[in-house]
Amino acid sequence: MTTGHPELVAAIASEITSSGPIPFVRFMDLALYHPQFGYYMRPSEPREERIGWGGDFYTSSDVHPILGRALAAQARQMDELMGHPAPFTIVEMGAGKGLLARDCLEAIFTQQDSFASRVRCILIERSPAMRELQRQNLAPWLNEPGLVTWVDGLDGLAQQSVTGLLFSNELIDAFPVHRIQVTAGRTEELCVDYRDGQFVECLEPLSTAALVHHLQRLNLNWPEGYRTEVNLQALDWMEQVARRMDRGFVLTIDYGHTAQDLYGPERKDGTFLCYFQQLTNEDPFLRVGEQDMTAHVDFSSLATVGEEQGLHVTGFTNQMSFLMGLGVEEMMAELEPESPEFRAAMHLLKPDGMGSTFKVLVQHKGIRRPELNGLKFKPFFGEALAANKVTSQRSLVNPATIGSF
Ligand SMILES: C[S@@+](CC[C@H](N)C(=O)[O-])C[C@H]1O[C@@H](n2cnc3c(N)ncnc32)[C@H](O)[C@@H]1O
Repeated sequence: MTTGHPELVAAIASEITSSGPIPFVRFMDLALYHPQFGYYMRPSEPREERIGWGGDFYTSSDVHPILGRALAAQARQMDELMGHPAPFTIVEMGAGKGLLARDCLEAIFTQQDSFASRVRCILIERSPAMRELQRQNLAPWLNEPGLVTWVDGLDGLAQQSVTGLLFSNELIDAFPVHRIQVTAGRTEELCVDYRDGQFVECLEPLSTAALVHHLQRLNLNWPEGYRTEVNLQALDWMEQVARRMDRGFVLTIDYGHTAQDLYGPERKDGTFLCYFQQLTNEDPFLRVGEQDMTAHVDFSSLATVGEEQGLHVTGFTNQMSFLMGLGVEEMMAELEPESPEFRAAMHLLKPDGMGSTFKVLVQHKGIRRPELNGLKFKPFFGEALAANKVTSQRSLVNPATIGSF
């Protein structure tokens, strides 16, 4: 059944009526980022929070400031390893409400030292509604000219202009994804049609050469009926990010896996999910523009594209190990055990929850073999990200079944 924001449903229906079925990736892009009516793009009504405990989903920065504090500690160590550049630029992309940037800046400016005096912060945010929330939450730093600035997209940053750290939390999982399915031995693409007032799924040949190329590169074997997602925008993003870095680190936090895990037999239905009022469902045609949509991240492919563009893998770990390496135990020692604040911080560390589902990929450019505290607890599955792993998995499938373009 199709429900959702009426003008958004009408806009998508009208596009399908004039062009024919659209790839799911286009449907998801419109549902989340239609310039006027998209989920992230509309200003929230006062009682219609999107991200947060009262919203559709919460992220680490809604839980407790320790992740922001840990990022600040990590940035400080990066600054040392880089020889104290001026300015040290911290870029956050897809900052949502801006809480993580707020917590990070707050921790940096508790010390009035050389690092604090050289830090500049740039936020890259596609949504005007989110930019407004970020302005509100970062208000304490907006009086100092040039300390915090905004751009709409990576195009707003010149090539090789960033010396410092570019980080994101739950950005990549919010990029629109292609959805594919193996049917009668062929890999086809899930598309969206509009019939009798309803959005319906249909399968079409793969829509772009880039998708065919990426699947050939992944070189995986999927059984009949296997359904999964491919995030091509993430690969393009990685390439663009690498070009913007002059020297420094890219730190990506998100839920995700190595390609081998993400595309393994136990995920035969993929990882696509919708979030509404803290509950998940798998129906993208419900509440179109009124619920979030996400898919888990393929960190191996991000690492491979990064390597090709001169960004080397510093390490790959999970949120729990990252926080432990950056002294979260000492931070927590200051909290009253059993207090709500203590329990909130523990929530981010849970080995069977956010502590392990969230992964941290760190890449570097222009620095020789950096050893970071956040990666101190050896990334036990770091090896799995080696660039050649994406292409070297044993092929069990005839590439002809992927099709050509
Ligand atoms: C799932 S939210 C995560 C928010 C925040 N990082 C947090 O942890 O709470 C995704 C954010 O990324 C932004 N976003 C998505 N695509 C983007 C793009 N191409 N450029 C900049 N921001 C983008 C969305 O508008 C939203 O603010």
